[in-house]
Amino acid sequence: MKTKDTILTGITTTGTPHIGNYVGAIRPAIQASQQGESRSFYFLADYHALVKCHDPKVLRQSTLEVAATWLALGLDTDRSIFYRQTDIPEIPELTWILTCMTAKGLMNRAHAYKAAVQDNETLKAKDPDKGINMGLFCYPVLMAADILMFKANKVPVGKDQIQHLEMARDIAMRFNHTFGDTFVLPEAVTGESTAVLQGLDGRKMSKSYNNTIPLFAPAKRLRKLIMKIKTNSQGPDEPKDPDSCTLFQIYRAFATPEETAALRDRYARGIGWGEMKQILFEYLDRLLETPRVRYAELIANPDHIESILIDGARKARAFSRPFLAEVRQAVGVQAVQ
Ligand code: TRP
Repeated sequence: MKTKDTILTGITTTGTPHIGNYVGAIRPAIQASQQGESRSFYFLADYHALVKCHDPKVLRQSTLEVAATWLALGLDTDRSIFYRQTDIPEIPELTWILTCMTAKGLMNRAHAYKAAVQDNETLKAKDPDKGINMGLFCYPVLMAADILMFKANKVPVGKDQIQHLEMARDIAMRFNHTFGDTFVLPEAVTGESTAVLQGLDGRKMSKSYNNTIPLFAPAKRLRKLIMKIKTNSQGPDEPKDPDSCTLFQIYRAFATPEETAALRDRYARGIGWGEMKQILFEYLDRLLETPRVRYAELIANPDHIESILIDGARKARAFSRPFLAEVRQAVGVQAVQ
């Protein structure tokens, strides 16, 4: 019999979640949690957020917002384990053990670190490591600990995270080779479900471009943002190309195949941009209405969110505590403190 998959993914708790995050990461994960065929772990990666965010108020608020977003959109916390990374003290401990099994040269090659060095070189900084903290440098080791701790074999991530998964496998293999078979080798899962949406200006929707549509913007603001989406100068009656159009792309990411086909037809016959924007607004507004209300209720009740997270941490630690004891035993330190 095939053993059950263990799916795990982390969500960095920075910024307010937007519709691009929803389509690319949140929706596929929530669908998987509702199917419940595998064991799944979803966590708020607030230790990862700490690499960049040094404002306690902002960090706390983002963690709350991201948790409320996932819950409002229907994450099933009975079928999946939903927790906050910083509630699992075994994670930083495993991170240190793995750090001692990680070649520095491997970390030198990490894309995020290399890009930061590259930026310094472009700016002709005296020190190529200017502004780079050890958290950024060791980011992939912490991520490996997140994954290896729960023996995850499938890790849904964006394409930019594939290298981190390869590094996690490398680190796990080196550990297993030295101390005996301990860790499961994880695999990245990327695909159509991790679709990338375009933002207001037509570039990839991303908080770093400041071109996002927040998931739970009030209706008025949502409408205003949609009206701002960049279009071309074609007149209302001209036939239009849906595939290069941001409005169409966003609509398609939410609509059924039938609705999408019908709209494609409207593009071929000619549709005014004003009308199309109104269609998109009404569609999204209707879809997000209920989760928006649920989100507001959750945000207004942080104690409730807290209790869900504490419960998740309790379930997660039922795995991490005994497994870390095995790891400690394997490397030759006292198994249990
Ligand atoms: N680095 C991931 C990102 O930026 C977030 C993350 C942290 C993660 N730990 C993880 C993803 C473990 C998958 C598994 O998207």
